[in-house]
Formats: sequence, C-alpha cells, structure tokens
Amino acid sequence: MENNIKNVESELEGSLKGIENLEEIENARVGFLGKKGKITLLMQSLRDVAADKKREMGMKINALKQKAEELIAAKKEQIENKIEEEKLKHAKKYDFSLPCDLGKGSLHPRTIVQKRVEDLFVSMGFVVEDGNEIESEFNNFDAVNVPANHPARDAQDTFWLSTGEVLKTHTSAAQNRIIRKYGAPCKAIFPGRCFRNEALDSGHENTFFQLEGVVIDKDVSVANLIYFVKKTLSSLFGKNLEVRLRPGFFPFTEPSFEMDVQCPFCGGKGCSTCKNGGWIELCPCGMIHPKVLEMGGVDPKEYSGFAFGLGLDRLVMIMNEIPDIRYLNSGNLKFLKNFKLD
Ligand code: FA5
Repeated sequence: MENNIKNVESELEGSLKGIENLEEIENARVGFLGKKGKITLLMQSLRDVAADKKREMGMKINALKQKAEELIAAKKEQIENKIEEEKLKHAKKYDFSLPCDLGKGSLHPRTIVQKRVEDLFVSMGFVVEDGNEIESEFNNFDAVNVPANHPARDAQDTFWLSTGEVLKTHTSAAQNRIIRKYGAPCKAIFPGRCFRNEALDSGHENTFFQLEGVVIDKDVSVANLIYFVKKTLSSLFGKNLEVRLRPGFFPFTEPSFEMDVQCPFCGGKGCSTCKNGGWIELCPCGMIHPKVLEMGGVDPKEYSGFAFGLGLDRLVMIMNEIPDIRYLNSGNLKFLKNFKLD
C-alpha cells in the first residue's frame, strides 16, 4: 500500500509539470480526485489493509489528497493568470490622459442655493447639522409634540416602513437630537430631504427639501425671530425685504407663524412670481414649545428659542424663476445645465 501511495504521488507531480491549459488541468483533477480517480481508488482499497496499518495508511492517503488539491488549484490559478496576461497584451490600449469631450457637469440648482444659505448661516455662527432620512416615529412626531391622533401620522400623508420607522416628513425630526447634542445656548441649521405621500403638482413633490433652523438662548423672543428672519432673507436676496407675520399652527412651536416676504422681484407691486399678491409665503416659524425644549433636556424656565423651516425647493424656485417643482427631481439635463455656481 505504501508503495502504491508513493507511485501515485510521483505520477501526480509528473503529470502536473507538463500541463499548460485549463482542459488538461481538469483532466488531471478527474484522473486523481474524481469518482474513479487514482487517489479515490487508493481510499477505497484501504479496506483491504491490515487493521494495525489502517490508521497510518489512511493518514498518508489523506495527506496525498490534500497535496493533490493544493497543487491542482495552484496550477489552475497559474494558467488563469497567464491567460489574463495574454488577453491584456492584445487588448486595445487607452490613453487616459487624452482630453475627453463629454462636457463638464454642473451643480444642481438646489445644491447651489443650499450652499449659499449654509454659508450665510455659518457666517452668523450657526453649526450645520445633517438629519436622517429614515427616522423613528418618536423623533419625527412625539419629540416635536405631534399628538398620536394628528392626521400627519396617517399613512395617507406619511411613508411608513415595515420596521415602524418613517421616511422623515419634515426636518423638524432632527430637533430633539440636535437640542440634546448641543444643549443651550444653541444655533443650528439642518437642511434635508423630506418625504410626504402627496398628490404631485407644480408646487408639491413627494420628495423635497427643507432647511430648518433653531436658536436657543436666554430671553429669546418673537422680536428676535422677526428681526433675524427678515435680515437673513434680505441678505439672501441682496436687498432689504419687508416681512409680515400671519398666525400659524405647529404643535412644536407656540406661538406659531407663517412668515411672508415682500416679493423681491416686484417689490410688492404684484408679478407672476408672487401671483400678483405682492407677498411670498416662505417661512413657517415660531417659538419652540416648552415641551420640545424639555424633551431635549433644556429647562424652558431658563431658556427660550425660535425655530423656522424654509421650504428649500420653494426658495430655489423663487430665486431661479422655476415654474414647476417637478423639474428639480427630473434629472433633465436640458434643465440642469442652465445652472452654474457664480
Ligand atoms: C413643516 O414641515 C414644519 N416642520 C416647518 C416648521 C419648522 C415650522 C420649524 C415651525 C418651526 P410645513 O408642512 O408647512 O411645515 O412645510 C414647510 C415648508 O416645506 C412649506 O412651506 C413648503 O415650502 C415645503 N413643503 C411642504 N410640503 C411640500 C411638498 N410636498 N413639496 C414641496 N415643498 C413642500
């Protein structure tokens, strides 16, 4: 038996030496390790070996089997590498340093406006935070004081995931996390993509962007809110704009407002952008509800704050006179290539 094992081993080594292609290596594999292969037959003949030698011979055959597997795999890899090298030798050569004529891409108009707004806020000492797109029910609703029976929680309005989480319906979903992170005082903005189960039209998308901000400090008042938003929007449009407040309702701010800006294009006389009304509804806002501060770990007896939520897509449309929000997510190159960062 021992001699048989040695013979098969040297046969294996000899036959692998001359092999040059994948077909031959497969034949060798079948010839030694296949059902009727030489090593398999050695295994089968083990039953005829004397009982006191069985264990030793068995170990030797197993070692040979392992050696055959390793040698065959190594030879196969060597042949495959050689084939690949040959292919590359004959492949067409590309010169990646040559100029390409695909034309330059450009930033999305939303990215351009978002960057301008962020730069403005950063210059006023705000931090820019990122929100999640998938949010817990708690962050999206409970932490901003939206009651369990509020219609916004309904599947008609909100995309629910099978995990019980939601696709964030508003950037306010990040408020709790940010207030917890910075405590008081705090000045932060957080732009982000939001999702609502909406019927689409020229002003409504199911996927759109908001840009939210919070300011928390001692003695923050509605007067601060009005002054701040007026100054910010004026600076964004490059001219002094009047603002007006209308009562609004959000469960997470009290009091809540809808802030309109005087149309920056016609100065309030009426034009197509403001639909002849002279004012543009731009900035829902209000004083942060004491419960929201409390849930964020801030004492509402010591601190107060305001929050505002710009519809970023709406701002992009106004600044660029884009008539239909659906252009923004269309991926239409004819539309997109009109925008460049100045
Ligand atoms: C909110 O989402 C509040 N979270 C905003 C807020 C923040 C209020 C902080 C107070 C304090 P509202 O549902 O009104 O509010 O949406 C805010 C803005 O998002 C709207 O004014 C609009 O510009 C934009 N928006 C809302 N729904 C859509 C939509 N389907 N498509 C495009 N823009 C939308």
